[in-house]
Amino acid sequence: MKRSFTWVFAGMLVAVFLVDSAFAGIIQTDEAKKWASENGKARQSFSFIVFGDNRPTSPTRPLPEVLDIILKEISLIRPDFAVNIGDLIWGYFGTPKQARDEFSAFTKRVYKYTPDVDMLFVAGNHDTPSEEIQRIYRELFGQKLYYNFTFGNSHFVMIDTNFPRSLLEKGQKYGFYNVNDGEHELAMVDWTKKVLGQNAEHTFVFGHVPVFSALTPHFGEHPKSFTTRGNRDDLLKFLLEKKISAYFAGHEHIFYAQSVGETKFFTLGGGGAPLYGPTTGGYSINTGEGPDYKTLKSDPEVEHGGHAKGHHYDLHFPAGALSIFSYMLVTVDRDKVSYNLMVPHSFEVTYLKGNDGLSVESSAVIANTTPYEWTLRGVTFLMPYSEGGYEVSGSHVGFRDWKAKPAKVAPEILEVEKVSDSLAKVRVMATIPGSNSIDVFLKVK
Ligand SMILES: [Fe+2]
Repeated sequence: MKRSFTWVFAGMLVAVFLVDSAFAGIIQTDEAKKWASENGKARQSFSFIVFGDNRPTSPTRPLPEVLDIILKEISLIRPDFAVNIGDLIWGYFGTPKQARDEFSAFTKRVYKYTPDVDMLFVAGNHDTPSEEIQRIYRELFGQKLYYNFTFGNSHFVMIDTNFPRSLLEKGQKYGFYNVNDGEHELAMVDWTKKVLGQNAEHTFVFGHVPVFSALTPHFGEHPKSFTTRGNRDDLLKFLLEKKISAYFAGHEHIFYAQSVGETKFFTLGGGGAPLYGPTTGGYSINTGEGPDYKTLKSDPEVEHGGHAKGHHYDLHFPAGALSIFSYMLVTVDRDKVSYNLMVPHSFEVTYLKGNDGLSVESSAVIANTTPYEWTLRGVTFLMPYSEGGYEVSGSHVGFRDWKAKPAKVAPEILEVEKVSDSLAKVRVMATIPGSNSIDVFLKVK
């Protein structure tokens, strides 16, 4: 009996994935323009998530569990799209078959946990360590290695700071070079200059390596970012002249932010790969030198937050940098942009009842472990298909009497996706106050 139920349920899951007409996922670089014109048309307000550096610890190891959590949360938040800023796999010194298997492990996770969110990519050094593996990357993620698209009122420019060294000149490594990927009339530097001439309310630029390296800000022997200051300055000049809104990078497995004028520079390398450096700058925590709680070190140019002893680099770690797993939610609202750094486990959904495609009633507790109120647009339930529709309600528990009270903001049904004659996926929007949970109840009408 149990076995037959398992098979029935497994069959339904397969049906969900096969019949789902809204099936989203990886947007090939070559398709990005078309995708953006269809999905972003006339949008003045929208949101996207930036995450990356989710490679495993070492060759042949599984992808980090943190990646699964981040993907689940992307699904729950349900932004308009997500951008991964590179280093999906280990890649280095692997065979083409091994690289393909590693990419496959990544895309499996995406389709398992984030099947309904469109995702765009920029290449990291681990994704394209050789021309051979770069060819596989291009086959899977698109031939164009630098590309742009306009989504609503914003222009997105994606560059490749990690061409394999065999394609670069002597002495060049990570950086902004005038390489042509064979898909453009202009090589990348000339192309970037040209496309940055395009007008938009906001311009966002993405590349794998940070413009402002937290760990090696003074370049030197083994910089963790751009190989030379001069090359970095070439890109920086373009970005500042254009007054872009933000440049997003990863590569350094930390969070770091810096601004020049109105332009923000974010390092968001906390997608699950091993973290670099002590947990936080300032205070000398985890450095073997402190902690020193009396001295708040705030100027990374003047004060070191400490050095990560024992790490294979003698890393500078400025105050303000955070060696934590994280991702960023960016919200564009007409002429305004807000940037929210999120940590995994910000939201947790526990299904208490139903969600099996069979029960006429389902319920779930949705916890918000952040101090802020958030609206999640991707809380989904598997329900029997109902011509008459569904009814949704929400409640929270009183702190004093432990009794259920109506949710301050009632949940709403956003979408009913008919999977088959007997099965539907119902998507609910739920607003959860900071440091609190709400119950969502869904039933067939
Ligand atoms: Fe990297």
